[in-house]
Amino acid sequence: MKRFETPGNVTALEAASPVISCSPVNSYNEWDPLEEVIVGIADGARFPAWHVAVEAVLPPEKIDTVRVHAGKPFPNETIDGARRELDTLAGILEREGVTVRRPENRDNGQAFGAPGWTSAGFYQAMPRDVLLVVGEDLIECPMAWRSRYFEMLAYRPLLKNYFASGARWSAAPRPELPDAFFDNDWSEGDDGTDRRFVISEFEPTFDAADFIRCGRDLFVQKSHVTNRFGIDWLRRHLGSAFRIHEVKFDDDRPMHIDASLMPLAPGKLLINPERVRTIPLQFKDWEVRTAPPPPPRAQPLYLCSGWINMNVLTLDPQRVIVEEEDTPMAEAIAAWGFDVIRCPFRHFQSLGGSFHCATLDVRRRGRLESYF
Ligand code: ARG
Repeated sequence: MKRFETPGNVTALEAASPVISCSPVNSYNEWDPLEEVIVGIADGARFPAWHVAVEAVLPPEKIDTVRVHAGKPFPNETIDGARRELDTLAGILEREGVTVRRPENRDNGQAFGAPGWTSAGFYQAMPRDVLLVVGEDLIECPMAWRSRYFEMLAYRPLLKNYFASGARWSAAPRPELPDAFFDNDWSEGDDGTDRRFVISEFEPTFDAADFIRCGRDLFVQKSHVTNRFGIDWLRRHLGSAFRIHEVKFDDDRPMHIDASLMPLAPGKLLINPERVRTIPLQFKDWEVRTAPPPPPRAQPLYLCSGWINMNVLTLDPQRVIVEEEDTPMAEAIAAWGFDVIRCPFRHFQSLGGSFHCATLDVRRRGRLESYF
């Protein structure tokens, strides 16, 4: 297996060639030219089974709705609309020359469990959450939500194919998720104090979407699904070619960093103006702009905030996919010099994410570089 090359350590042959990888998996950042992507599916999507770890990330006004619907399918209108939008997104990507793969449809109503607990499935809509690509390594994440314990199975047909064509395929230690892992009395901490998380440090857990990749440097937030143990596990797994920086934002319900921090191209960082009060010092030489406030919308957001408007997908350092009705974001991104591609995604967003969440960039044309 080919080892990662650090920037100071490239051979003359590699320096002469723009493409150094022959692995089917190769993605070091959020902006290199996209070649292959997994796009999630909405079919069979259900509200997550009720659990304290779910409650911890919900805006208070959404708790009752999600609790009432826990374990039930999302409304047909949401699923049908999201399916259409995902197909539109897949069509746009294919027209732009990107190979699109889709996960398998699963019965999320089927019960499963581990010693001490039972649950049922959630969805196959957000490959970004479950799988982490760092360079040539495709990693199955140790999810803290019980309802997501087997979510990666929907991607296994793809993973087996990538493996057959030479990919490195890894999985973090499978968590136990016993009751004692969670703080069953969790309630929101007081402002100004260190935030209390609903998960403990009993075992490593992390969701891929708590990480943002910028070449040698990755940024991560501790959250209600990602603990210090999980971050340390990944740090040691990736080794010395990468540096993982922990960042902290003003987010009362942290779960997934990609509605807080979104690098669009080398030197261009989009931030959430409510959450990112201090720019991580690594970005001091980057141009930083704030996301415009999300415009009003007709469709409900069951599981996330309106800041999901920031969750755009970069096709290369020039082209960005933005939600069709989100004119403030489209204008802000265009004014920054990008070409904006608009795609309807309002129904999909009801499931709790947007373009970045709905996709996993398996391959981008590029190599390991340092941007700081
Ligand atoms: N927690 C974020 C918010 O409510 C949403 C992040 C969604 N990201 C994802 N990869 N599913 O603003």
